[in-house]
Amino acid sequence: MQLEIQNVSKRYSKDKFGIKDFSITVEKGILGLLGPNGAGKSSLLKMITTLIKPTDGIITLNKNNIVKDANYMRKQLGFLPQDFGVYPNLNAYEFLEYMAALKGVGGKNLKLKITQLLEELNLMDAAKKPIGSYSGGMKQRMGIAQALLNNPKILILDEPTVGLDPEERVRFRNLISDLANDCIVILSSHIVSDIDSIADQVAVMKNGKLIAKGNPEDIIKNVNNKVFETTIDKEQFSVFKAQQIIVSTKRIEGKILIRYISENHVKSSVKKQANLEDAYLFLTKTN
Ligand SMILES: Nc1ncnc2c1ncn2[C@@H]1O[C@H](COP(=O)(O)OP(=O)(O)OP(=O)(O)O)[C@@H](O)[C@H]1O
Ligand SMILES: [Mg+2]
Repeated sequence: MQLEIQNVSKRYSKDKFGIKDFSITVEKGILGLLGPNGAGKSSLLKMITTLIKPTDGIITLNKNNIVKDANYMRKQLGFLPQDFGVYPNLNAYEFLEYMAALKGVGGKNLKLKITQLLEELNLMDAAKKPIGSYSGGMKQRMGIAQALLNNPKILILDEPTVGLDPEERVRFRNLISDLANDCIVILSSHIVSDIDSIADQVAVMKNGKLIAKGNPEDIIKNVNNKVFETTIDKEQFSVFKAQQIIVSTKRIEGKILIRYISENHVKSSVKKQANLEDAYLFLTKTN
């Protein structure tokens, strides 16, 4: 499997770009797409799923131009859109049967497949209840289930972990890791910890552009030896904030413990092991 995005732009109006001259090649495995609100994650994923067309550029899957031949993509695709809606009166079985019909998935094994997905996504207990009565996290898991109905070779998940509690996040991670053995999985998030432990490759986006790509260790290299911790008085905070990139703060006995990124660290700082969160913050602040 190979997905190639070549110099793709999406222009929404005269000078409003969702994506600008974006290129990336994706092979099998999990690609985590990270970027702040408005970075262009959904615009990019909608073009990959053939929901919208690029204004410029080419997208190919296994060398097939999917802007021209959308069906080549659609046949192999599973997609969870960011604004996924469910039908509140249907129960989980009915909803998945309905989605299967829309996707042209059928056959005698469909019931079995649906049961298997409901088990994997921990929805069996509620399977006969109307989806309207589900919690946000359960609805999200229904969205993930429908994306997997056709055993996709390319799975695109736009903010899949929104609303999932920590336990379900772990479940989700394991499920996706298993799937990614022989297919392409692209998932977006603006939460680094969602991507951190699951993605083989990470792409960081901002203002419609790719600002970094690589495995998590490569991305972290951007801030190696630049992450520090120090404690300052409350009164010093606004000056400190203006001069340094702050990752996190914690109040301790009237003082503030700060984790920050710097080329010129202040005296009495302790150097810390850099992580992906540090690197993401640094890249999005300095690009
Ligand atoms: N249909 C549209 N018409 C006009 N502008 C749009 C449209 N869709 C997106 N945009 C703009 O394109 C830019 C990228 O939006 P997009 O939704 O792709 O970002 P995102 O990274 O998915 O953000 P979020 O994290 O909030 O989901 C934003 O500035 C947005 O306002
Ligand atoms: Mg989005």
